[in-house]
Amino acid sequence: MKKTILIIVFGFVLWSCSNDGNEAYIAGPFFLEVDQPSNFPEIKYDLKANTPTDAGFELGKKLFYEGNLSSSGIISCGFCHEQASAFTHHGHTISHGENGLEGFRNTQPIQNLAYFDEFTWDGAAIHLDLQPIIPITAEVEMNETIPSVLDKLESMPEYAKLFENAFGTAEINSERMLKALSQFMVMMVSSNSKYDKVMRQEDGASFTSLEEEGLIAFTEKCASCHSTDLFSDQSYRNNGIPYNPKHIEEQGRQRVSGYEADFYKFRVPSLRNIEMSFPYMHDGRFGTLEAVLDFYSEGMVENGGEVDERLKKPDGSLGIDLQNKEKEAIIVFLRTLTDYEFLNDKRFAEF
Ligand code: HEC
Ligand code: HEC
Repeated sequence: MKKTILIIVFGFVLWSCSNDGNEAYIAGPFFLEVDQPSNFPEIKYDLKANTPTDAGFELGKKLFYEGNLSSSGIISCGFCHEQASAFTHHGHTISHGENGLEGFRNTQPIQNLAYFDEFTWDGAAIHLDLQPIIPITAEVEMNETIPSVLDKLESMPEYAKLFENAFGTAEINSERMLKALSQFMVMMVSSNSKYDKVMRQEDGASFTSLEEEGLIAFTEKCASCHSTDLFSDQSYRNNGIPYNPKHIEEQGRQRVSGYEADFYKFRVPSLRNIEMSFPYMHDGRFGTLEAVLDFYSEGMVENGGEVDERLKKPDGSLGIDLQNKEKEAIIVFLRTLTDYEFLNDKRFAEF
């Protein structure tokens, strides 16, 4: 008797799955595919260990915009990571979180993280699934504890359903919470800027002559570090930025590795959507791209660490030779990295 019911149930499932074009019959979450644009390097996130689904993504998005991940109930991930500015904290040099407390770093964009395997300015997070623990528990960010966050989620009825849809049962635990956040974040791929369309020869896109000049200057003078179509070689480098005495706790990569040689090295940032993610550098000290280029041509100093060899001129002095015309062209080129489709993509928007 039991067997017959099982067969009937199984048969029903098979029937409903084969019912082409009528997706409403198919139970359970659907797998989502992370974009792999032809001009991008390989995905580094282990998608087999945590395959995004529509339900996991929905849960991750809800958590990303959930104020209850913080002690006050107000500071969500999205509070500091705002879509219009490529998921950075608009207008803030250093981000502030709970109680208005300030950290000592500028908020990084959230984009194309599936292609990276180390996170934050100094690489303190070596897996995307572990990264959110830092902001949730940092006093200056969300000032919470994981057990308390889980308690709060359990007390909100809507989450039981969302966890069940995503993971099969209503159990709420930290692994599931972190996996759902990653499912949301790995889907955030920015690859449809003008630059991409020119590179992939789509929609008849082409550079203006100034953009073309900018690309040539950029390739010669910047792409040794801001390399590949992610515009980062994903290594840690000291770019000769003056030491900032306001933040004595800042040591760059040395904070993670312990090596003095890593003092003031930072993960080479991607330059995608750079026009929108100002202010710039690990402490947000430059408000404009003009200021960044002036720094590269005239502002570089010995900062107590080992400035990258690539930034030394043949006579040993520091800096990149840049004519005003080149600076202008590079900025015009960098603006072609703005991806309006990504910045306006409703899938990632809070409302
Ligand atoms: C108070 C502001 C603030 C909040 C809230 C916040 N972040 Fe961040 N986020 C930052 C800052 C600042 C950095 C750079 C951290 C560093 O380098 O130490 C960062 C870095 C990151 C990175 C690394 C990006 C990269 O390219 O390596 C990820 C991923 C991230 N945040 C996700 C989250 C998630 C998920 C949440 C919510 C659980 C969150 N953030 C909440 C400010 C914030
Ligand atoms: C030696 C490697 C190297 C070279 C060459 C280099 N950069 Fe950078 N760049 C870095 C590093 C490292 C940082 C982060 C430093 C920090 O935050 O203090 C950075 C930061 C930046 C930022 C700020 C990004 C952000 O998200 O805040 C911009 C813009 C930038 N570089 C543009 C350029 C341009 C344009 C050139 C060529 C004129 C160039 N870089 C050459 C390593 C390099």
